[in-house]
Amino acid sequence: MSRIDTLIGAMTLAEKLGQLTMTASSYAVTGPVIAGDSTAAIKAGTIGNLLNMVGAAHVREMQRLAVEESRLGIPLLIGFDVVHGHRILFPVPLGEAALFDAETWALTARESAKEAAAEGLAMTFAPMLDVSRDPRWGRGVEGPGEDPWLGARMAEAKVRGFQGAGLAAADALAAVAKHYCAYGAVTAGRDYASADVSERTLREVYMPPFAAAVASGVPAVMPAFTDLAGIPMTAHRELLRGWLRGRWGFKGVIVSDYNAIAELMRHGIAADLAEAAAHALKAGVDIDMMSDAYRRGLPTALARKLVNMAEIDESVRRVLTLKEQLGLFDDPYRRGATPEPAEAFVHRRQLARAVGARAIVMLKNDKETLPLAASLRRLAVVGPLADAPAEMRGPWWGAADGEGQVSVASQVVHAPGVAIDSDDASGIEAALHLCATADAILLCVGEAATMSGEAASRAYLDLPGKQCRFAEAVFEHAHARAKPVIVVLFSGRPLVVPWLVEKADAVLAAWFLGSEAGNAIGDVLTGRVSPSGRTPVTWPRAAGQIPIFFGERNGGRPANPADRYTSKYLDVPNEPLFPFGHGLTYGRFALTNLRVTPLEVEDIDTMQISVDVRNEGARAAQETVFLFTHDKIASVARPLLELKGFAKIELQPGEAGTVTLSLRAAELRFLGIDLEPVFEPGEVEILVGPCADRLHLLTATVRLSWSRPC
Ligand code: NOJ
Repeated sequence: MSRIDTLIGAMTLAEKLGQLTMTASSYAVTGPVIAGDSTAAIKAGTIGNLLNMVGAAHVREMQRLAVEESRLGIPLLIGFDVVHGHRILFPVPLGEAALFDAETWALTARESAKEAAAEGLAMTFAPMLDVSRDPRWGRGVEGPGEDPWLGARMAEAKVRGFQGAGLAAADALAAVAKHYCAYGAVTAGRDYASADVSERTLREVYMPPFAAAVASGVPAVMPAFTDLAGIPMTAHRELLRGWLRGRWGFKGVIVSDYNAIAELMRHGIAADLAEAAAHALKAGVDIDMMSDAYRRGLPTALARKLVNMAEIDESVRRVLTLKEQLGLFDDPYRRGATPEPAEAFVHRRQLARAVGARAIVMLKNDKETLPLAASLRRLAVVGPLADAPAEMRGPWWGAADGEGQVSVASQVVHAPGVAIDSDDASGIEAALHLCATADAILLCVGEAATMSGEAASRAYLDLPGKQCRFAEAVFEHAHARAKPVIVVLFSGRPLVVPWLVEKADAVLAAWFLGSEAGNAIGDVLTGRVSPSGRTPVTWPRAAGQIPIFFGERNGGRPANPADRYTSKYLDVPNEPLFPFGHGLTYGRFALTNLRVTPLEVEDIDTMQISVDVRNEGARAAQETVFLFTHDKIASVARPLLELKGFAKIELQPGEAGTVTLSLRAAELRFLGIDLEPVFEPGEVEILVGPCADRLHLLTATVRLSWSRPC
């Protein structure tokens, strides 16, 4: 008999339910309910998993209680939200997505895993893979942005990075793909609200990142809090057992979200905890995070015959298998055994700085205001986010303290002007006095870190508090004296600030860049680093354009300014303020000579797509080249642009090079009328360029034909 069979054979019901229970310690608070002291339950073997435990000594002590003082000595699985770093933070995931660089996505996950595993943790509730097309929803900051293909690439990279050489490695964390599925589609962008999307959108937009995570070997998945067309994801048998386990072959653990099983009662599909627990277990949810519904509800559910012991055993087996894969049975203390050397943190900070600089998206740079000329080095640094170290962490700060973060004005004279979100405008005068002493003004404005993330939806996406008034005063002062104003915009979403962009000379979208934010921003301002980030979300010019994304379909009446009866607004253009992929550099790139070979393909072929890129600017820079496709005539109307690839090229002034991307013709398949994949003959446009704006894309057309029968 295997170790797991023997254990299951020896376990009481209470011990089995303990393995299906995850309880929070109060070291970090990430939800509304906090569990009390769990030590007695751990010794009794009735709690098998913990979350929110921080610090190697605490983790080890809890593990010791489980391994050395419980009857069966089963080790604990201890997880935490290591989202973009543990103590040293990298940019928030949406900011990292702006790098369009899978190797770096994997690298930051690797470093985060090393740091967290060195404190004894074995699981991270990441990556968050929810495609988000509605910036009102605060949780877009945790994920890959608006595009499913991009989300899938990020999923692969993050799973690879967190898990390193393999789950059993002492520096590996089990990744959790969350929040399955369509959480980003919550009604009106309001967190936790219902989602209701078509079957096609579910499969084409929201599922691909999760399918990619499963294909990459993710060992755990977390269902979303939300319901999808009336079926809460925590109880969604078709999507959990049918799709995830059945069609994709996922063999790992499904861990509920925080209190989500108990919330099945609020959803209105369970009358009591026993029914809630039965719904979740039947759907395949193995671990109950923070509801205590399995421990309290499943015994009753068993008595009522809502579930049977075999179903409980099936979940226990999956949890124990994951613990075994993590090497916890062989050596429960392998993680957290050796503290990391000091150099590891130094190295990690350097990485955080380099990645931070590359996550910055330069939205605007009129008259080459940036990099700052030596003559403009007398800078007035103003705004509530100029000196706000704790804010630089963004909404998921892991175990990072507020003080250890570098913000823009950490070492320079500055004036906040106003607070991030208050009615007090009394500091504006002092800030304007500081502006009067300078040649140029660095205006650091935006959201507080906690204005995005969980439970942080916003209906107005302008600057909060009195920041608009403050910024207007700064612009008035600066414009009257012909001083440039450089805006550094901090946010966890694309803010709707066309007026700010219009008035500024340069704008840097700085998201929340993590521990080295200030240094990273300094590197870009001074030109030590040439900006290369590209926005992974479309930036609206008006909140009324939301949801907004580049992958729209044409419709029967596409916008035509000369025809009233076409798809447009009366009061605002359809076009976003900035398209997906937008981001300026200190170079100036020209893309020419798009070649696609072959131009006639069957489904087994691979195309090589090349474009020449020349840096016509005066500074070295990195260009990002995007590859889109458009199936013009198909049995189902296809999006106007579908992302299929990206590549980067670094060029000196005057230098030219060629970017080549491969595209398998099979990737031009889509879900046909019956939602099964089809490869249809006909013409497909191949579009290559610097962003998702057709005006900037070079186009070629390939002809698809059926594959010859062998
Ligand atoms: C609730 C969040 O939705 C989820 O993303 C997170 O992992 C858990 N809380 C645990 O903190």
